[in-house]
Amino acid sequence: MARPFLLVQLSDPHIGATWADGDPVAGLRAAVESVRRLPDAPDAVLMSGDLADNAADAEYELVHELLGQLGAPAYVLPGNHDDRDALRRNFELPGAVGTPVQYAVELGPLRLVVLDSTRPGEDRGELDADRLSWLDAELTGAPDRVTLIALHHPPVSTGIAAWDELGLPATDRRALGAVLDRHPQVRRVVAGHMHRTMTAELAGRAVLVVPSTYIQTRLNFNPQEIETVAEPPGFAVHALLDGELASHVQPVT
Ligand SMILES: [Fe+2]
Repeated sequence: MARPFLLVQLSDPHIGATWADGDPVAGLRAAVESVRRLPDAPDAVLMSGDLADNAADAEYELVHELLGQLGAPAYVLPGNHDDRDALRRNFELPGAVGTPVQYAVELGPLRLVVLDSTRPGEDRGELDADRLSWLDAELTGAPDRVTLIALHHPPVSTGIAAWDELGLPATDRRALGAVLDRHPQVRRVVAGHMHRTMTAELAGRAVLVVPSTYIQTRLNFNPQEIETVAEPPGFAVHALLDGELASHVQPVT
């Protein structure tokens, strides 16, 4: 039987955080152990932002060490709690100091394109014209590669006004959608930030938001403020078989 190519996506470990019940280090360790117990080892690993809560080198070193236990190449991107340059330093990422962390990598049959959706110093995100023209050029250069785009902020409305205020402006989401319209090889867009599982659509492509390994947020469509809740953490396993991409969400057990 043919074996799929497997990309595991973990998100939002928030190492160093103390603002919710639970230990973020224990949470990430449990998620890593859960991945290690899967019958099928991942071919690559993605961490979709908020690796560190305080952007301290020691926090990034710990994430680096724990991801290293998965025995597959690991790719990271910045969330609103991260510092671009600390992330670059600790994970040897390309790009000049202070600039958005964006790169593309060929993972066997799958191409991963990482976008930086952060607005330094703020929790909400942005995708400016420079970042999107970089994306357009990257996608133009590889029109036949099955591609997954990863970023921290979900590029869709969540249906929850409190979350959308912390997300990407509608104009930026539409601008990303306009780029995707030109590039049918993009099969999936994946994000974190919400600490929940959610799916939506952008330019006809499925968008998947994956849980945190630290703490989840309550499903409440009219919250005065976003609440955390002790629900199971989880991660995604993106499986590419014969050119078709399926995304599974697995609770941490
Ligand atoms: Fe976030």
